[in-house]
Amino acid sequence: MQRRWPLALGLAAGFLALQAGLQSGADVVESWRLATRWTARTGFFLLIITYSASSLVRLWPNPMTRALLRDRRWWGLGFAGCHTIHLFAFVTFFRVTGEPVPTPVLIGGGIAYILLYAMALTSNRASMKALGKNWKRLHSLGIHYLWLIFAFDYISRSFSPETWAMDLAFSAIALGALGLRIAARRKGRRV
Ligand code: HEM
Repeated sequence: MQRRWPLALGLAAGFLALQAGLQSGADVVESWRLATRWTARTGFFLLIITYSASSLVRLWPNPMTRALLRDRRWWGLGFAGCHTIHLFAFVTFFRVTGEPVPTPVLIGGGIAYILLYAMALTSNRASMKALGKNWKRLHSLGIHYLWLIFAFDYISRSFSPETWAMDLAFSAIALGALGLRIAARRKGRRV
């Protein structure tokens, strides 16, 4: 039996991050900027859990990692829910600032959202059966692409004087998750 609570957790955490951001800014622009940042940070942890689930069970099989893998679909949907709140936050942020969305962000982020919603809509057995090998291709491409956007964003921000320490920590988590996947793949080959 799969448990759906990670979806509820993703939505609740996303709303909390949004609310916290809106209450912390000194003015409306800063509030929406913080809401955008904090919803992205919350989603990051949900994505990393989803990205690492299969590697964790392969490297350390135990009841906890097995439960994580069993419910991975719901962790992914939790991330999709939370990142939909990020979408709402940044759309409002750009509306209140009147700034245009930078083209590279629009293209890179737009592709990410297309993949994210394609994955969310096909996260069920009927789609798995209907898509066959393409299901695996879509989900593998999607999860790696989403990981790449986070990793790229945090690594490139690590040089910013204001937030470098946190960005460096988030970069290390993203690279650590990639390390887990490589180690799990190697272990799989040896077995
Ligand atoms: C068209 C799509 C997107 C737009 C326009 C957008 C816009 C924004 C904006 C305005 C910020 C706040 C920047 C600041 O701190 O001044 C932000 C933060 C962020 N976004 Fe998005 N975003 C998009 C999609 C995504 C996607 C798909 C991901 C990840 C898969 C993502 C991850 C992040 C991250 C990591 C941050 C930084 C959070 C932090 O400071 O810790 N964004 N985004």
